[in-house]
Amino acid sequence: MKSDVILGLQWGDEGKGKIVDFLSSKYDVVARFQGGPNAGHTLEFDDIKHVLHQVPSGIFRDNTKNIIGNGVVLDPVVFRKEIEELKQYDVEPFYNLFISKRAQLILPTHRLLDAAYEKSKGEEKIGSTLRGIGPTYQDKTARIGLRVGDISINNFIEKYENLKAKHLTILNIHDFEFDLETLEKEFFEALEYLKKFKLVDTDYLINQSLNAHETILAEGAQGSMLDIDFGSYPFVTSSNTTCAGVCTGLGLAPSKIGQVHGIFKAYCTRVGEGPFPTELNNEVGEKLRKEGHEYGATTGRSRRCGWIDLPALKYSIMVNGVTQLCMMKADVLSAFEEIHACTHYKYKNGNISDKLPFDLCNEDITPVYKTFKGWKQDITGITDYKLLPSELFEYIAFLEEELDLPINIISVGPNRSQTIFKDNHFH
Ligand code: GDP
Ligand code: IMO
Ligand code: MG
Repeated sequence: MKSDVILGLQWGDEGKGKIVDFLSSKYDVVARFQGGPNAGHTLEFDDIKHVLHQVPSGIFRDNTKNIIGNGVVLDPVVFRKEIEELKQYDVEPFYNLFISKRAQLILPTHRLLDAAYEKSKGEEKIGSTLRGIGPTYQDKTARIGLRVGDISINNFIEKYENLKAKHLTILNIHDFEFDLETLEKEFFEALEYLKKFKLVDTDYLINQSLNAHETILAEGAQGSMLDIDFGSYPFVTSSNTTCAGVCTGLGLAPSKIGQVHGIFKAYCTRVGEGPFPTELNNEVGEKLRKEGHEYGATTGRSRRCGWIDLPALKYSIMVNGVTQLCMMKADVLSAFEEIHACTHYKYKNGNISDKLPFDLCNEDITPVYKTFKGWKQDITGITDYKLLPSELFEYIAFLEEELDLPINIISVGPNRSQTIFKDNHFH
């Protein structure tokens, strides 16, 4: 058996939560392999609308094992809040949620450092979610981080105090004000709460699941253009959001990767700072934001909006080894007379290319667009692929041809039920 993967191909918020929740009925295990509380994955079904941050999106299925892998950075305080919020739906995942002992812990001072670093960057800030992600991964690679498994060892407090002291030295340089006492109180209470869960060697667990012929779905967070190596550096997150992160974030060998589902919006959004070649700073962008309700699921910030960017998508498909595509939010484009797709970038020197440059930040790029006729028709109630409007078929056929992959899922609304399969591939 092999593990399938679902990941975002743009700058995050593609609709991963919706599709993972939807497909999780077909998998025995759903596993998060990177990121942490910077993620906001929205699930909608029946009368429920819920946003998950660290807990995998298979949590609403009683029979699904959910794994928080070693590549994740876990904030115990956010975790406790998330689990308590799930109680309202009678979801109490003490038995079907497994957390890696190797996952790094986000400490209160990591969150403070995130804020201090952002403040010190001024105009150059990343637009971080301020969840402590960068500083925690920084400590991981500096080999001084604390891991979930450490909370049960005798000298945990000593290790914690040592790391805190290092952080305070930096915070003092930044002249940054904070009230650590309150933060520490909730942190230590949350650690006691965390101890009630299954803190295990998820690397063994997931490989045993594979050997027992269980089906596994790895759930990406963020998007490929936010990847620490392949994204629009330095305006990225601090983990490998791409497919290689599945191997290092779960302990799965590359030969154990199966289907890679790449998810993209029928247009494009980005939240936070950084380059965005197809961004529309005009009433069209405003309309995309309004029609698509483009406000961050984690921070509530307005998402920047623009047309689909094929050079970026092609690059993401390449580095991830995507095998099939899901197109999200097609319904949002129903409001437009015309739809544009960026096929190439035109550079200042006149060069035209469909490749991503080394550094998107320092390039003066004008997108080259192909224009499509809109369908101007409500498609949110359509359940049969064949009944989609002809103009949408034209758009899909063009994207499939350009991206050289099938688009097997079309999403036409936020609800689980508003999901259309091209064929019975998944049944
Ligand atoms: P994620 O981070 O990739 O899981 O995506 P988010 O949950 O942050 O953002 C996606 C948003 O779009 C959420 O509010 C979803 O409920 C919503 N959504 C997902 N698919 C569709 C769709 O096909 N149409 C519309 N209109 N909304 C969608
Ligand atoms: P999901 O999983 C969209 C962005 C932030 C910021 C940059 C770095 O919901 O798709 P960080 O807090 O990681 O240091 O922020 O990355 N960002 C996201 N944007 N969706 C996300 O997650 C994101 N997680 C981080 O806005 O620009
Ligand atoms: Mg999101």
